[in-house]
Order: sequence, then structure tokens, then C-alpha cells
Amino acid sequence: MRTQVGIVGAGPAGLLLSQLLHRRGIASVVLENRSRAEIEGTIKAGVLEQGTVDLLAAIGAGERMRREGFLHRGISLRFGGEDRRLDFPDLTGGKAIMVYAQHEVIKDLVQLRLATGGDLRFEVKDVSIYDLDTAAPKMRFRSREGELQEIACDFIAGCDGTQGVCRPSIPARALTVYERIYPFAWLGILCRAPPSSEELIYALHERGFALVSTRSPEVQRMYIQCDPDERPENWSEERIWAEFRARLATRDGWAPKEGPIFHKVVVGMRSLVVSPMRHGRLFLAGDSAHVVPPTGAKGLNLAAADVRVLANALDEFYAAGRSELLERYSETALRRVWKAQRFSWWMTSMLHRFPGGDQFQYRVQLAELDYVTSSRAAAAALAENYVGLPFDE
Ligand code: PHB
Repeated sequence: MRTQVGIVGAGPAGLLLSQLLHRRGIASVVLENRSRAEIEGTIKAGVLEQGTVDLLAAIGAGERMRREGFLHRGISLRFGGEDRRLDFPDLTGGKAIMVYAQHEVIKDLVQLRLATGGDLRFEVKDVSIYDLDTAAPKMRFRSREGELQEIACDFIAGCDGTQGVCRPSIPARALTVYERIYPFAWLGILCRAPPSSEELIYALHERGFALVSTRSPEVQRMYIQCDPDERPENWSEERIWAEFRARLATRDGWAPKEGPIFHKVVVGMRSLVVSPMRHGRLFLAGDSAHVVPPTGAKGLNLAAADVRVLANALDEFYAAGRSELLERYSETALRRVWKAQRFSWWMTSMLHRFPGGDQFQYRVQLAELDYVTSSRAAAAALAENYVGLPFDE
């Protein structure tokens, strides 16, 4: 079998790329080793930049998001027992963010892709890719039914995340890896309770970071900084709520709305970039090429930005027979990736207690929070990054 673009991975990057290509008349096959139910049920982050929202809407995947997502016009930074709100439309010339869970985006994209004749192969096994530096790179895999299959492609898009097969298929000497591992993690919970806040609250407290997010009128998403080797089992409901109450306390007596916790997970924190994001006819996009700590909520948004660049470049190749944009793909994508890396690293550094960090460091962090919420220039810098920097062409 043959296709134009072989896509490994049915996460946000792979599904979105497949639909963007479809709209330009470019055929693709998407391979995914998990089941449809599994990818649609995996709980991840939930903040979409304005540009991601616009992109999803433009391809026809924005209808349920518009109905069920929450448009947030700001966030609060909480420190010293007080909230300082950043008003995004005011600071960015009208932009905002959408809180809509990643697995809901996945459901919408799978449904749209299938409705428009997409070729999505779930539960495939033993995926490998090869002949990457020839004009006909190939994907080989075992189908759900166990049959060995091979698909020859013009290009392969590696959208299979940090644990995928695509990045390791590139010889190590052809890649530079930039990595930072943080000495803390997040304990994330989902609970059945009404929203504690209309907008997200990012808090820095002596005891560490805390974040109040949301999922629906009945389900809330919250996180606290914890040790990287912490196990969710060690955190009873009472211990979790005591920690949230302590870290989120304000002088005027704010308290989170508590309810039964039905999901707990420890999320590691690291920053990673591989460069270049291309090897021969293999193009990496999303988490296979870069990972951000969740503090800036950039993961899915970066994946969307990558595939937007890649789809434009492939379109230019097929429509005009030119490969300049493909040649520049890595450079173009990495410019935005590094800016998002800088922002995520900066937010993470400002908002967490570092083990072994002294009071000097903590006071500097508090001063920085005070500065970014009292200087309009500094607040605007945070806001324009949070709502999403413009796409590079
Ligand atoms: C989430 O809702 O899961 C979430 C929100 C903001 C973040 C990270 C995660 O920075």
C-alpha cells in the first residue's frame, strides 16, 4: 500500500495534521498503538491558546468546544495571601484562552477525521519506520488483526510523543537533545465539586505551588507541587485537601470547594527539545520533538503550531512542487518552540519552591510575582505568551 503522508500517532498532533492535509487534498494514514477508547480517555491538560481555538474552528472541529469549553479572559496569580488578576483581553488586544480538555479535543478530531473518510488504524503493533533518507520512507506494523503490513509514503510525520518509535529511529549523532529535569512534580486530581474559581489560579506558597483549574460545572482539576518520586497512593483525600487549603489560603478566608476525588496522578516536570525536528523525509511534531513542563499549559498548543507549519510546507510541496518550506520546517517550528520553552521554564521557576532553595531565592520569586502583576509591561509580556505567540510562517 502507498499513501502520501504516513502519520505515526493519533494524539493532537497526528489527528490535526491528518485533517489539515485532508482539507488540502493530501492523503494520509494514521497509525496508533492504543485503542480509540484509550486515546479518548487519557486525561491531560486543558488550556487552548486563541490560535489553537481558531485553528480547530477553521477545520470544523470547534463546534462542541464552543458549546462546552470555557472562555477565560484572565488568570490570577496568588501569593502573599492575595490574588492579582491578569486581564488577557486588556493586556493582549482582545485575546483570551479556552479551557477544554485535551481528550475532548481528541474525541472531536477522531470523529471529524472518520466522518471525512480518514484512515485511522488503532491498536496496531510493532510499528517501525525506515528508508527515511530515501524518496519512499516506509511504515511497517502489525494490524489489529495481527497481519504484517507495510505502507510506502512520500513523507512520514512522527507524532508519537516522547515514548514513540519515530525519534529513536533517527541516528543519535544526527540530533542534539536539550533537556532540563526539575526537582519536583505535580500531583493532579479530578474531583466532583463545583468550580472553586471562575478562572485559573496559579499560587506560590511557602509549602509550594498549587493550581486551581476546571473541567466542567461538576468536575474540577487541581494540582499541587510534590516530590518527583511521590506516589498518588500516599495522598489521602484529607491530606490533599489540607494541602490545598494551606497553599491557597488568602487573607480574606478563601477555601477550595471540596468533593470526592476520583483521579490522582503524579506528573513529572521536564523541558526537552530535540534539534533538528527533521531527518530525511521524517518530520517530528509535538511531544516527539519537545516537552514542556505543564506550568505554561503549552504542550498541546505547540503540537498544533508544529503541524500547522508542516501542513503548509507539505501543501507547498504538493501544490507547487517546491520544497523550500519543508527545508525550513525545523527552523520555523523551533523558533516558536524555544519561545514556549522559555515561557514554560520561566513560569515554572517563578512559581515553585526549589528543594534546597533558600529564603533569598523565595523572596526574589515573590518580588517577581509582584512585578509581573503590577507593571503593565511585565503583565503584558506574561499575557501575550500565555494566550499564545503569533504563528511563524
Ligand atoms: C489543566 O487544566 O489541566 C491545566 C491548566 C493549566 C496548566 C496546566 C494544566 O498550566
